[in-house]
Amino acid sequence: MTTWITVCDTCKRSETGAVDAEGTDGERLAALVERAAAGRVQVRRFSCLMGCARACNVTIQATGKIGYTLAEFQPTREDAAAIADYAEMHQESDNGQVPYRQWPQGVKGHFATRHPALPDLAP
Ligand code: FES
Repeated sequence: MTTWITVCDTCKRSETGAVDAEGTDGERLAALVERAAAGRVQVRRFSCLMGCARACNVTIQATGKIGYTLAEFQPTREDAAAIADYAEMHQESDNGQVPYRQWPQGVKGHFATRHPALPDLAP
């Protein structure tokens, strides 16, 4: 199953976070993640994942797998690469669980929530 990264494009790292020509911190992170993940996993933008106080936020999800919300990223190439690398490992996993020893250093300490896969109740 394809793993999707959803990047909050309205995140600002502070109340007074600058919104410049490149947009919000979330828009800057989204552009970097789109570049880092190209051809590997899918990326989409969404406005507000309701984790505003812990900006910048992303989710990692795939049908039938455990999903995660990760928080407190900065709009940097390094953070975007870590997000994309982790998402690719999530995609390659059977159930969404990636062994801790394989996690990219850049995602450690960023996990905020875990979402069990929904049961398949289709008849
Ligand atoms: S603005 Fe990004 S989580 Fe609310």
